[in-house]
Amino acid sequence: MRPEASSRPLALDTLAVHAGQPPDPVSGAVMTPIVLASTFAQDGPGNHKGFEYSRSGNPTRQALEACLAALEGAKHGLCFSSGLAATATILHTLRPGDHVLSGDDVYGGTFRLFDKVMKHFGVEYSMVDMRSPDAVRAAVRPTTKMVWLETPSNPMLKVFDIAKMAEIARAAGAVLVVDNTFATPVLQQPLALGASIVVHSMTKYLNGHSDVVGGALMTSDEGLRERLAFLQNAMGGVPGPFDCYLVLRGLKTLGVRVRHQCASAAILAEKLAGHAKVKRVIYPGLASHPDHALAARQMKLPGAMISAELHGGLDESAGFLKRLGIFACAESLGGVESLAEHPAIMTHASVPEASRRVLGISDSLVRLSVGLEDVGDLWADIEHALS
Ligand SMILES: Cc1ncc(COP(=O)(O)O)c(C=O)c1O
Repeated sequence: MRPEASSRPLALDTLAVHAGQPPDPVSGAVMTPIVLASTFAQDGPGNHKGFEYSRSGNPTRQALEACLAALEGAKHGLCFSSGLAATATILHTLRPGDHVLSGDDVYGGTFRLFDKVMKHFGVEYSMVDMRSPDAVRAAVRPTTKMVWLETPSNPMLKVFDIAKMAEIARAAGAVLVVDNTFATPVLQQPLALGASIVVHSMTKYLNGHSDVVGGALMTSDEGLRERLAFLQNAMGGVPGPFDCYLVLRGLKTLGVRVRHQCASAAILAEKLAGHAKVKRVIYPGLASHPDHALAARQMKLPGAMISAELHGGLDESAGFLKRLGIFACAESLGGVESLAEHPAIMTHASVPEASRRVLGISDSLVRLSVGLEDVGDLWADIEHALS
């Protein structure tokens, strides 16, 4: 794509195919080359072509970082070897005595970083149900430097008002970080709503094919970018060039995949809600979801993740997961293949049982990641496993 093609701002689907990926200037190759070199020859000491050593910068990674920044409407993107490496790097902008105010329903590994890693460096955290802005305001401390949220949250699919949380964070002089893994920029762009940093597990929808573990953050704040780029290099949790290439390839179909997956999820959520073996369906697209109106306002579509409580206990939910044939019983989400899991035993085992109980992560809760298979086949699979 030539940059001068038109003055019209490009839509996400176009950016996903082209942003950061002009044809290779040497060969004209339309696919970004995978540059595997760990180091780059310099004409003389300090006289290089923009790349010195692949931890500090790599052409394939640079293309991915530019594409991801464009998708989130950010000036800058930085990539990492996992979502948690991105999260850990963001948390290292803090100092002993600083406080993180987090949503109460975050990925178990994020909670583990707050509770078992950062706490030992003197970084404090507390959690609050961010559906209540008053509760969030009351939980802000003089030392609060960062507000952290995921929306929709994992696994209870609570939806939080990003613009409102940005307002509270700004008033407190804190940075708002939004984990946009579940929604993707196809459904919402947190920076446009006032967030300072967006973080992703690229392992999920961004790559979309369950063959890469990776992470990314995007920001338009120059000061934050400088500090985070320093930490990316200093801490060293960068992805390899081949993984960057795979994510660039996956991103090209991001919009198509996410819209199709959302359409199938909406159909399955409706059907599940009418099934006698299902006690409760949690899906932001259903009118019964407590945050349905906010989701409709904040998100283009309600997402492709469904949580459901089945009648019975662990035996019934485990039996359901064992009987599924197309849905694989596996952790993770956002791939082309449908997955199902048991949060209490699998993804959220690191959350203490008492906290799980408060959040509603019961033994009868299952979580579905709806893939790209035929929706009729997916429903037949669920119906068979429930029967
Ligand atoms: C919402 C969310 N954020 C972050 C992560 C961590 O990402 P990764 O597994 O790529 O380290 C996950 C992983 O499941 C996640 O679901």
